[in-house]
Amino acid sequence: MTEALPFPQDRTCPYQPPVGYQPLRDARPLSRVRLYNGRTAWVVTGHAETRALLTDPRLSADRQNPAFPAPAPRFESLRTVRTPLLGVDDPEHNTQRRMLIPSFSLKRVAALRPRIQETVDRLLDTMEEQGPPAELVSAFALPVPSMVICSLLGVPYADHELFEELSRTLLQSVDPQEVTEARDRLEDYFTGLVARKRAQPGDGLLDELITERLETGELSHHELARMALLLLVAGHETTSNMLSLGTFTLLEHPEQFAALRADTSLVPDAVEELLRFLSIADGLVRVATEDIEVGGETIRADDGVIFSTSVVNRDGAAYDAPDTLDWQRSARHHVAFGFGVHQCLGQNLARAEMEIAFGTLFARFPGLRLAVPAAEVPHKPGHTLQGLVELPVTW
Ligand code: HEM
Repeated sequence: MTEALPFPQDRTCPYQPPVGYQPLRDARPLSRVRLYNGRTAWVVTGHAETRALLTDPRLSADRQNPAFPAPAPRFESLRTVRTPLLGVDDPEHNTQRRMLIPSFSLKRVAALRPRIQETVDRLLDTMEEQGPPAELVSAFALPVPSMVICSLLGVPYADHELFEELSRTLLQSVDPQEVTEARDRLEDYFTGLVARKRAQPGDGLLDELITERLETGELSHHELARMALLLLVAGHETTSNMLSLGTFTLLEHPEQFAALRADTSLVPDAVEELLRFLSIADGLVRVATEDIEVGGETIRADDGVIFSTSVVNRDGAAYDAPDTLDWQRSARHHVAFGFGVHQCLGQNLARAEMEIAFGTLFARFPGLRLAVPAAEVPHKPGHTLQGLVELPVTW
């Protein structure tokens, strides 16, 4: 028996799985790991096994289950509240998800494209006027998804500093008390916003949900506020990390970058391949409610099960030359958006934002390059969504 590896670990290179995960890659499809609190859990690393397990109802997403594993201290503060969607199982999960699906359909997202393009153009106009150089996270990667999700939900973007700061604490702090405070403040913000909207309706998704679900008694005021919180956090932090880390990755792969600039019809495939390659949500968490046989092992009831998407998405059984960034491959069956009932609700929106943002950025700034050596670009620790803290660029 080899000793359980510590999990999660920090990446050395921000676009590669942590060097310390090599034993997990060698031991596919699953391994035992040790979490920060000394508990052990399973980490699933095989692509086929991941897709099978993420559709297996014997794995639960209920963060309030005392056996639910905590890959980072912030998970402790999630035990006290019911996280909508991400943290509930069917049938409750399905009821919540069905309320939101129409708003994130391909058709709805297609209708949002002109608004996304306008946002991207405006931010790049400002960047051009003020630069070079620029800090791409604050000038572009964060405001694009933040403005888009605000406009979709009907949340005033004027409040962005408040909710961006609190979201950062919620996702990155290692102090459970601080996380709880940030979550409470965000919840208060949304409870107040929902109350204001009830008095004075607007035209966002939250306003629709107030009319169609809150006033009908299907959702309580509190449940709607929590749902809004989740949508806002999930809707801006993730895409922002993809935009910053994706740009950095391209600047570090000049050949692939040149191919993309030469043929912009490759952008949608490049977005898919970057999702696979970067796997920014690197650790989807579940708990087993029954014994499950998989890969010659038995996952016992109450065992924690974590899916390391960065390792899963580089499984040689699913992808040829998995460590190569290749626009020609069909990467679409990656698990960067998860799989099964919790598969990302916002994926159509995220794809549209990335296609428009990358496509426009590279067309308008063909000479884009790093303004500091690559090794000096700060990236996020392993226990949270992967991405860059800052991205200094010039052109
Ligand atoms: C590139 C950007 C994004 C990535 C990589 C991403 C990744 C993910 C992943 C991996 C999951 C599944 C988590 C699990 O199974 O435990 C998920 C779920 C979810 N995502 Fe995204 N996401 C992105 C963008 C968005 C956007 C723009 C929204 C818009 C609101 C969004 C909303 C959600 C929601 C609501 C869920 C929970 C779905 C459920 O439990 O049924 N995401 N996302």
